Amino acid sequence: MIVLGIETSCDETAASLVEDGRRVLSNVVSSQVRLHAAYGGVIPELAAREHLRGIAPVVETALAEAECAVASIDAVAVTAGPGLIPALLVGNAYAKGLAAARGCAFVGVNHFLAHIYGAFLGREDDVPAVPSSFPLLALVVSGGHTALVVIRRDGTAEIIGSTLDDAAGEAFDKAAKILNLGYPGGPVIDRLARQGRPGTYDFPRGLTGGGGRPLKPENRFHFSFSGVKTALLYAVRDRELSDSELADVAADYQQAVVDVLVTKTRWAAEAYGIRTVCACGGVVCNSRLRAELESAAARAGWQLILAAPRYCTDNAAMVAGLAFHYLRRGPASCLDLGVEARLPRDLGRIPFVPTGAPPPGGGKS
Ligand code: KG4
Ligand code: ZN
Repeated sequence: MIVLGIETSCDETAASLVEDGRRVLSNVVSSQVRLHAAYGGVIPELAAREHLRGIAPVVETALAEAECAVASIDAVAVTAGPGLIPALLVGNAYAKGLAAARGCAFVGVNHFLAHIYGAFLGREDDVPAVPSSFPLLALVVSGGHTALVVIRRDGTAEIIGSTLDDAAGEAFDKAAKILNLGYPGGPVIDRLARQGRPGTYDFPRGLTGGGGRPLKPENRFHFSFSGVKTALLYAVRDRELSDSELADVAADYQQAVVDVLVTKTRWAAEAYGIRTVCACGGVVCNSRLRAELESAAARAGWQLILAAPRYCTDNAAMVAGLAFHYLRRGPASCLDLGVEARLPRDLGRIPFVPTGAPPPGGGKS
């Protein structure tokens, strides 16, 4: 089954053709980063206008790169949320129109779940096409989300932790704004931090129980990045930083964010008896986070599945791939499906969890 995926939830116009949920035939991403950089963040109205301009050429390029005729598509899938409403509407209107004109299935998928599926895409290692060990712990860290999700063998998913304020990606983006490094902040802080010497600045690790404030049990798996951002603001306020000082600040700031993400992932894995951890979303491009998750996995003995960088940041292959599993298990979406700004509490049944197989060794999942 060939699915055309479309993604317009934020500032990337993307289209991809994926066969049977696994084989990525093309993956085209047109980024609007330069357009929004001038404002230091994404402007929804501008994003929507740019999606409108870009969507048809991006889909045409995806079809051409896959050497696939539009008549060969079995379904059109699109991110239906969460995301910026004006931006989502462009992709959804286009996807519905194309599916109706082609007379093929239309599927609206959840962007957050698509990010998790992205960890299983395009792998050349021995990671299976779908998760095979349960419960699976997913760390989802992007510009819009920071969450720990436990996915069980019966296909249920529970968000056990999320951010009380900023997402991890926002923590990077806002820090870059404070340091005048441009937008988006993650890649530039990652690059700069490699030249810095950590250890000069003692930034807070939010909700980890440090700084003399005991951690409330209900916040054990939750995140908060507003404190570290404010600490950065005070640390550099009214100061002219040299290049090397800037690199040192970046290294310490990045380390504080990474420490929190890795610590909470470790705590959650211990609490839920997790043997397999996957990490996905734009922030998983971060070199320090990848290295530290690798070390934590080696120490704790988990299987770690890190999304490939091209499937960490927003893309449509994860959308097309996830849609394949919905279509395999149930009916397509209706053409009157709405778009959603927020992540629903109930993520529904996770479609890429194989059911029916007894858990190996009678596991508790
Ligand atoms: O997944 P994504 O493309 O979009 C959302 O769904 O939000 O994530 C974008 C976020 C941005 O906040 C960006 O700064 C961050 O991912 N990011 C990084 C890195 N590359 C992208 N954060 C830290 N280090 C990176 N190397
Ligand atoms: Zn995303």
